[in-house]
This record gives sequence, C-alpha cells and structure tokens, in this order.
Amino acid sequence: GMAARARAREAATLAELEAALRAFDGCPLKFGAMNTVFADGNPQARVMLVGEAPGEDEDRQGKPFVGVSGRLLDRMLEQIGLDRSSVYITNILPWRPPGNRSPTQAEIAACLPFLERHVELIGPEVLVPLGGTSAKTLLNRSEGITRLRGQWFEYPVGASNQPVPVLPMLHPAYLLRNPVSKREAWRDMLTLRSRLAQSG
Ligand code: URA
Repeated sequence: GMAARARAREAATLAELEAALRAFDGCPLKFGAMNTVFADGNPQARVMLVGEAPGEDEDRQGKPFVGVSGRLLDRMLEQIGLDRSSVYITNILPWRPPGNRSPTQAEIAACLPFLERHVELIGPEVLVPLGGTSAKTLLNRSEGITRLRGQWFEYPVGASNQPVPVLPMLHPAYLLRNPVSKREAWRDMLTLRSRLAQSG
C-alpha cells in the first residue's frame, strides 16, 4: 500500500531500505518467518538476480540462495566466470512463505515497492529474473517462464523510467526437478555473457 511505497521511496541507501523493510508490517509472511532475507553479493555488480522467495535454508541463514538451489545457481554463474562477488542477488519476497508454498498476488504486491526501490538503488546493467514468479512480476506479463526465458525485455527503473535490459532465466529449483532443461539455462547464461562482453 501507500505506506510501504512511501517508506521504500524515502530510503536513500541500501541500509535504509533494509531497515525500512525490517520495520514494514504490511506483509503477513513476515510473522511466520525466522529472518528477513534482504540480499547477498556485490551492490556494485553489473548483474542483479531476482529469485522468488526464501526457502528453509535461506530463512534460517537470512541470505538468498544458500540451499540446494543456491548451489546450482553458483555452478551456473561459474560457467560464465561469475560468482557472489560479481553479482547481486535478492528475491521478490524477503520472507519465506509457509512450507514453501507459492506467494500470493497480495503478498507480492505488498512487497513490490521495496523491490522497485532496491533495483533503483543498485542500478544494474542487466536484471535477471529467476523463474516465472519473478519474471511475471518484473515484466508485468502473463506468459510462462518457458516462453519468456532467454529473451530480452526492458524494465523501467524508478521515477525516471530509465529502461534496464531484462533476461529471464529458468529457476534453479526448476532445473533440479527438470535436469533436461539445463541446456536452456546454459544457453541463457551464454546470452548473458555475450551482453556483458559487448558492453565492456
Ligand atoms: N529460491 C528462491 O527463489 N530464492 C531463494 O533465495 C532460495 C530459493
């Protein structure tokens, strides 16, 4: 709602945004979670990855992608010479949904102003939604991730609406369940690598 949006907009730094998020009571998921999972990686990174929501390991440790999905993600990044010091990672939702259920539209909407400001403060060169929930939320589109992945889109950042290139990819948890799709994930990593090489 308006209160969250105002609090998020008032945040002038990442530390202020994290504090505002921790103080935000507008998303009920907070009350069932152990931790607020804000982000990991390098705030100066050229690539910002956005997953869905913390799982059990992330909720416990307070960091995104530290469980099995995270280990696969690290291996995928490694294929193109990236690691946690060369990317920045967050999620659509900072709190774990009970039993890892899918987040509701209301939960996503409540937290979205914080993510929007988060992207604005990081100012990445490329935004990578991981999985359908993240891609649909950031791109405002109804197609599934198998349609969106590997293609370039744009996301209008902040008040200026400055567009940032977006490359949706398959979620590592999906790849763990559907290993045959790792071919597509590998292709998408190469697409990301080419873009980063082009722009120096
Ligand atoms: N899955 C996600 O989408 N995010 C995490 O942080 C962990 C698993």
